[in-house]
Amino acid sequence: MTMTTTSDHVLIFDTTLRDGEQSPGATMTHDEKLEIAEMLDDMGVDIIEAGFPIASEGDFAAVREIAKRSKQSVICGLSRANFKDIDRCAEAVRHAAKPRIHTFIGTSPLHRDIPNLTKDAMADLIHETVTHARNLTDDVQWSAMDATRTEHDYLCRVIEIAIKAGATTINIPDTVGYTAPRESADLIHMLIEKVPGADEVTFATHCHNDLGMATANSLAAVEAGARQIECTINGLGERAGNTALEEVVMALKVRHDIMPWNTRVDTKKIMNISRRVAQVSGFAVQYNKAIVGKNAFAHESGIHQDGMLKNAETFEIMRPEDVGLSETSLVLGKHSGRAALRDRLNQLGFDVGDNQLKDVFVRFKELADRKKEVFDDDLIALMRDGTDAANDRIQVKFLRVICGTEAPQSADLTLEVDGVDHQKTATGDGPVDATFNAIQQLFPHDARLQLYQVHAVTEGTDAQATVSVRMEENGKIVTGQSSDTDTVVASAKAYVNALNNLLVRREKTKPESV
Ligand code: KIV
Ligand code: ZN
Repeated sequence: MTMTTTSDHVLIFDTTLRDGEQSPGATMTHDEKLEIAEMLDDMGVDIIEAGFPIASEGDFAAVREIAKRSKQSVICGLSRANFKDIDRCAEAVRHAAKPRIHTFIGTSPLHRDIPNLTKDAMADLIHETVTHARNLTDDVQWSAMDATRTEHDYLCRVIEIAIKAGATTINIPDTVGYTAPRESADLIHMLIEKVPGADEVTFATHCHNDLGMATANSLAAVEAGARQIECTINGLGERAGNTALEEVVMALKVRHDIMPWNTRVDTKKIMNISRRVAQVSGFAVQYNKAIVGKNAFAHESGIHQDGMLKNAETFEIMRPEDVGLSETSLVLGKHSGRAALRDRLNQLGFDVGDNQLKDVFVRFKELADRKKEVFDDDLIALMRDGTDAANDRIQVKFLRVICGTEAPQSADLTLEVDGVDHQKTATGDGPVDATFNAIQQLFPHDARLQLYQVHAVTEGTDAQATVSVRMEENGKIVTGQSSDTDTVVASAKAYVNALNNLLVRREKTKPESV
């Protein structure tokens, strides 16, 4: 996968499942990671960084399974600069048709200080570890963490060592989101000019968005000769996140006239994966986010609407269909049949079998009875919401709340736990708090609620609310989600969904008996 500076192709390296998932609270389950990896592979991402195999048994298992299931994409795992990390990584990716080991070390003065390594000692370590990785696989990526704050002469020296030791991709991370476009370009340009062997490897750019310049910095690096952009869906990632995949890919497509580089990404798949990543990570996409925000294609001001009606190109630089948004999102109503529902779900990227369709159709009818118009976003919420709830150990059977100006607000709740109904009335500071107190009393647990978030799925007072809940138990994080036209019901179901996920996780992490 070596790309020279003259190549017109830019490799897209997605790290949603590693750098994105590393963002506090964005933890995904094993199955969610497999699903996202499959979507990335299907949409034409060149390299998927599937995780950090040494970090935990869970990370290792996810990377290994993603490697086994991979089709087109290279599957990459991350490892620090030591043999144990690298061996674990090699073991995790080895079943991929195209495996890659990614090893890194912080090269800036601040990073050299922490392990108290001299420049020479670090250079030796880079030589040893890259050589070791290269003996295990032909495709080795080496990253100089905090490259943008590393002395240029030292950066050149260690990159030369990594190339000589067999690295095929050299990644130049802007770890703390500190650089700016011109500096980003100059750095790549200088490295390609000065480092012996630079023309035989691919240079990669890996930008964080602390100053909001990640996309601009990545594209500037490409202008200077980088041929791999590292990015995440929705820009997910620690702090202000990473470069957003959808932004760089669409920028290269829309402004091909001035940035004549191609990617393999099928841009029509962007919206679906964006929604799914938002859902499983619990990190909602801001309304005005470029490309995938709810308002990205909304032209509401009078002057814009007038222009749009006359000619869409007046204000639209790309078509909604190009990113997978359908022209009209008003789809079904209560008279719509099963075939229409299946057809629409297929268009939204859901492949539903007969049994699943039966279940979704029942819930669709219930929703259509309560809501006049069922939009695409409603259908997506429906699909994501409890499709396998029938197997859950805890179910919400009945909920009635009393709320309003007179305190205390209360919730009368019946939960079915392992097939047995339990009822409780609890009070709280508002109906959601009362409901959560009732759940806590009916199913006592020590997990701590870390996040409670509500989003309207569509417009209008009859819109469904999607509630996301994140909980932590012994350092492990689980999330739950649910949608309903009643916000309190959605909240109760999201909490219960998180508890069911917690039970599954407890079961999986139980020590095996010998
Ligand atoms: O931001 C960074 O430096 C990283 C490295 C591990 C590549 O994510
Ligand atoms: Zn990073």
